[in-house]
Amino acid sequence: MQITSFEQYEENYKKSVENPEQFWGEVAQNFQWRKPWFKVLSWNFKDPEIKWFEGAKLNITENCLDRHLATNGDKPAIIWEPNNPDEESVTLTYKMLHERVCRFANVLKRNGAKKGDRICIYMPMVPELAIAVLACARIGAVHSVIFGGFSAKSIADRINDSQCKLVITADGAYRGNKQIPLKDVIDDALIGCATVEKCIVLTHVRTPVSMLKGRDVWWEDEVKHVNDICDAEEMDAEDMLFILYTSGSTGKPKGVVHTCGGYMVYAGYTFANVFNYQPGEVYFCTADIGWITGHSYIVYGPLSQGATSVLFEGIPTYPSPSRFWDIVEKHKINTLYTAPTAIRSLMSFGEEPLNGKDLSSIRVLGSVGEPINEEAWHWFDEKIGHGKAPIVDTWWQTETGGIMISPIATVTKTKPSFATLPLPGIQPILVDENGNEIEGNGVSGNLCIKFPWPGMLRTTYGDHERCKQTYFSTYENLYFTGDGCLRDEDGYYRITGRVDDVLNVSGHRIGTAEVENAINMHAGVVESAVVGYPHDVKGQGIYAFVINPEMHGEADLTKKDILQTVTRVIGAIAKPDKILFVSGLPKTRSGKIMRRILRKIAEGDTTNLGDTSTLLDPAVVDEIIEASKKY
Ligand code: PRX
Repeated sequence: MQITSFEQYEENYKKSVENPEQFWGEVAQNFQWRKPWFKVLSWNFKDPEIKWFEGAKLNITENCLDRHLATNGDKPAIIWEPNNPDEESVTLTYKMLHERVCRFANVLKRNGAKKGDRICIYMPMVPELAIAVLACARIGAVHSVIFGGFSAKSIADRINDSQCKLVITADGAYRGNKQIPLKDVIDDALIGCATVEKCIVLTHVRTPVSMLKGRDVWWEDEVKHVNDICDAEEMDAEDMLFILYTSGSTGKPKGVVHTCGGYMVYAGYTFANVFNYQPGEVYFCTADIGWITGHSYIVYGPLSQGATSVLFEGIPTYPSPSRFWDIVEKHKINTLYTAPTAIRSLMSFGEEPLNGKDLSSIRVLGSVGEPINEEAWHWFDEKIGHGKAPIVDTWWQTETGGIMISPIATVTKTKPSFATLPLPGIQPILVDENGNEIEGNGVSGNLCIKFPWPGMLRTTYGDHERCKQTYFSTYENLYFTGDGCLRDEDGYYRITGRVDDVLNVSGHRIGTAEVENAINMHAGVVESAVVGYPHDVKGQGIYAFVINPEMHGEADLTKKDILQTVTRVIGAIAKPDKILFVSGLPKTRSGKIMRRILRKIAEGDTTNLGDTSTLLDPAVVDEIIEASKKY
């Protein structure tokens, strides 16, 4: 299944396009199925309806755990590095992980969970998070992991949208020198969640928490009541594996649905190839399991390939900006997969944090989540990879389930800031505004995919129409990514960023409408408009133009109140970096906000704002410019 030369890549790519069913059918043979499929693929992008490996039966945890036991049972599956470097790291072998997953799967059953039930997971980056995810998959329950930075209201919305029956959480989480009171947040969320019957709480930070009789139980107590034998539930290839909520250009996040068979094949195949993983190597992805990167490339992808996956609880700058390099040295990391934001942030500390660190184990470097600028690419290449480790700049999305456009380590020639070429099976095309294909090289357009791949989303939970409208209706018979893209003279792809109203802040996806809704929930605010602007570290920052709110105290305090409101409604990750109070917003006569103008002002470029004569009140633009200059 592993591609080892560029000629082989070209051959595989050709075959995957000419005969996709044969290609993916052969790739899928590398996995363990209880029953084979009768049809590799049936699809249409109109409805959309996509089925991979129809009729096949499997359980993804048998592929991630059981099948490794005989030969690799004592090999480390997960190495956990705690937030505090003075604490011991923890290694779980495949045997140990299998045992713990089975045991916790029995805890889930004991608490009433069964196949098809939705289970919300809100946990710190500890091994038990991976165990909880896999235990859900073991019994055929659908996990919905929520990143620890989301607020009680965001959690409640997500729990209610998918009617979760159970919640798995912890007393708290560490993040650098901060503690996050996870159980408190869950308690607030659950006030509005009638479907939740049980909440399983892991002890981690040992902070006091409330435990409600009949609802809340301790993880440590529960595991004592069950044994560690749990047969995996037989799942249909197209049964739901998980829901992961993500932001779009409208207010409410969507529950992206991935299914068992196709997702497994795609996550496993792309992991093995993109990172050129070799048996015995130690692989470290710094993402949080609360995002798709953690699902596919900390848990399912690596474990399906019998890899050793490092799970890190902390942040890159705690207790010092040497932390990543200490981890690399300590665990002899061979592959480091991280985000441009982390690279830029570490770069800003200069070379001192790298002094004396042994990074010689590094063989492959990876980047994900946002465009990587050339400066960061070169720093990563020279200072971390010492010019010897290929950088795989991996472009993909929550919806794609796995990496789509990326170099294959040691195979594809890399180019700074380019995601390079599509992986086998992926057929990208660029289209203009009207959906006409832009052919040839040296061109830019909107990035679409014209043929299905096994890891693609199947629906958005509870609202198939929304899936159709969002991804399959902009351009007929195409999956629309929402990204703009350049294809250069060599046919290499470079992702230029979102072309819709979605922001990418530190690699986190946030909808402008979502942030506006949150700001508008502040008692004094009538209307606001949010745009992104270039930010040195985060890639994009959030700039909010707020129509002069009713002040309670001075303007600065009101700004802080607004930030607090956003934190409550969405979570701290969505807090605007800048808030500007203005007397009006640039609107067309039909009332549409001209974001193009606000974006330019936010970028500090007011030289060419284009035609403002169609505005209801053109004078408002000058006023905003003046105010922004004083900011
Ligand atoms: O704009 C693209 C950007 O991140 C978006 C997807 O965000 P999310 O679903 O949260 O998944 C992030 C992790 C896969 C994309 O639409 N993006 C992701 N990877 C890259 C990227 N932009 C440029 N280069 C990348 N390598």
